[in-house]
Amino acid sequence: MNVLLIGSGGREDALAWAISASPMLDTLYAAPGNPGIGEQATCVGLDVTDHAAVVAFCREKNIGLVVIGPEAPLVAGLADDLGKAGIKAFGPSKAAAQLEGSKGFTKDLCREAGIPTAAYRRFTDAASAKGYAAAHALPIVVKADGLAAGKGVVIAETLAEANDAIDACFAGSFGSAGAEIVIEEFMEGEEASFFALVDGRHALALATAQDHKRVFDGDKGPNTGGMGAYSPAAIVTPEITQRVMAEIIEPTVRAMAARGMPYVGVLYAGLILTKDGPKLIEYNARFGDPECQVLMIRLRSDLLTALIATCDGVLDTFDLRWYDDVALTVVMAADGYPATPQKGTEIKGLERASALEGVEIFHAGTRRDGDRLIADGGRVLNVTARGRTVAEARERAYAAVRQIDWPGGFCRSDIGWRALQREQSGAK
Ligand code: AMP
Ligand code: GLY
Repeated sequence: MNVLLIGSGGREDALAWAISASPMLDTLYAAPGNPGIGEQATCVGLDVTDHAAVVAFCREKNIGLVVIGPEAPLVAGLADDLGKAGIKAFGPSKAAAQLEGSKGFTKDLCREAGIPTAAYRRFTDAASAKGYAAAHALPIVVKADGLAAGKGVVIAETLAEANDAIDACFAGSFGSAGAEIVIEEFMEGEEASFFALVDGRHALALATAQDHKRVFDGDKGPNTGGMGAYSPAAIVTPEITQRVMAEIIEPTVRAMAARGMPYVGVLYAGLILTKDGPKLIEYNARFGDPECQVLMIRLRSDLLTALIATCDGVLDTFDLRWYDDVALTVVMAADGYPATPQKGTEIKGLERASALEGVEIFHAGTRRDGDRLIADGGRVLNVTARGRTVAEARERAYAAVRQIDWPGGFCRSDIGWRALQREQSGAK
């Protein structure tokens, strides 16, 4: 089978790496891809916002499956247009991708289906939003309704901060994403990322993972897309997995089907493990980045077969195998990330670093300039390693980081600290 992968980040490099190991694969194409993906796939300069061009490419190259990595093409309805053209696509329809594209949509669905999440209200004007914030306990969470690249969330410790966040949203700080806002209760607990393949009717949980959202060591500084991740996440016990499936994922799958917008693809639930049990923060309609990187390292089964089983609606007869190894990834980002990443600096030493035992380096934001590798984004490399323990995976990943010669970049030095603490204290 020929496969077209849409995207250009570290998540897509990890997907390309896993798909290219499939015995079912003939040729893998990627649009636009990146230099790392280019080691597994033929990168093509397709404009993925031009759905007719994507369809024409699929016909010309006899593409049997399109795997859509990022949220933007999903929310733009690429899966719908491929489906109409009779081309199989992994990723939800535009209607189903509202689970990521509209926080208000998701919150309303949770309310109707009885899914545990923070108490909330939706607003389209500042005065009533401020009134609500004033009447509720601090801290309080203010969110732009639409896609804001992970930046549209403020956890306000004071009412003044909440009011500023409300004004900023309605003043257009997040463009149309902020035309409507959600204000919700602050939930206390450790966060985890939960992934399930969903075929419209059935859901299959993937291995557990956690990421680090803050930019600096000690989980300090502004939120980012994720500075590192690891799998498994021991805090997500089999009992919690069962509860998340029964109380959050499965009711969502049923509610989406009942609304006539069955969800097909990977459903990513951001969770907070509160003292009352797991609660949903938000949904994403795609794999987490960089969680996908550690999941792909641990996946023993054939990814391509699993993606096809998802599209074909047969996940009820499907199972996945995982390696017992721990996988851990360290994100190397360009100086200035997340606010103002400096592009254009040169990176050396990747061959040396990737030659280390158990190490895979995924490209997240790079480009080639002749023989030189150049930083071309905020998050630039995902230095990923497997090991028998968290300690071993972490040592290997940081040993690889030390081999990379890139004065223009930085990374956190404490990825996996919680998991390491748990491992060292002998807790499961
Ligand atoms: P989101 O973009 O909705 O994932 O939110 C970004 C981050 O804000 C999350 O990863 C959480 O750390 C935090 N957050 C969002 N909503 C809440 C909430 N209701 N309670 C506590 N933390 C939250
Ligand atoms: N790692 C968080 C995300 O992919 O949104």
